[in-house]
Formats: sequence, C-alpha cells, structure tokens
Amino acid sequence: MIICQCNGVSDRAIRKAVRDGAGNRNDVVRACTAGMACGGCVPAIEEIIDAEQERIARSSLTVLELATS
Ligand code: FES
Repeated sequence: MIICQCNGVSDRAIRKAVRDGAGNRNDVVRACTAGMACGGCVPAIEEIIDAEQERIARSSLTVLELATS
C-alpha cells in the first residue's frame, strides 16, 4: 500500500527502512524519501515506525527466550 502519495513510497519500503536501522521519521525520510514533500503522510509513517519497532522487539524477545530455554 502506498503511504506517501507525493513520493510513491509504500508501507513495505518504510518497514524495510526501520528494519535497516531507521529509528525515527528523519531517518525514514533519508532512507526512502517518504514524508519529504507535503508531510501529510507523517502520522502514518510514525505509526508504521512504532509498529515495526514493536514487532522487532517482540521477535528479539522470542529469540532470547528460545536461546535461554
Ligand atoms: S504524502 Fe508523503 S510527503 Fe506528501
């Protein structure tokens, strides 16, 4: 799904930027140009960043739990 209409950036590209280390909106803008023009997509970008970081944290916790069990 396209999140940033101005630059044609998908949710998938934003999630990949987060997995590759983008930790905030500015990092995502640098990584994939989402949010670089009108800014209308910024709330959605921030939601995706939060959700992806939470998913990554849960995955890391699961790996840690498996490693210690
Ligand atoms: S919709 Fe993303 S910058 Fe305009």
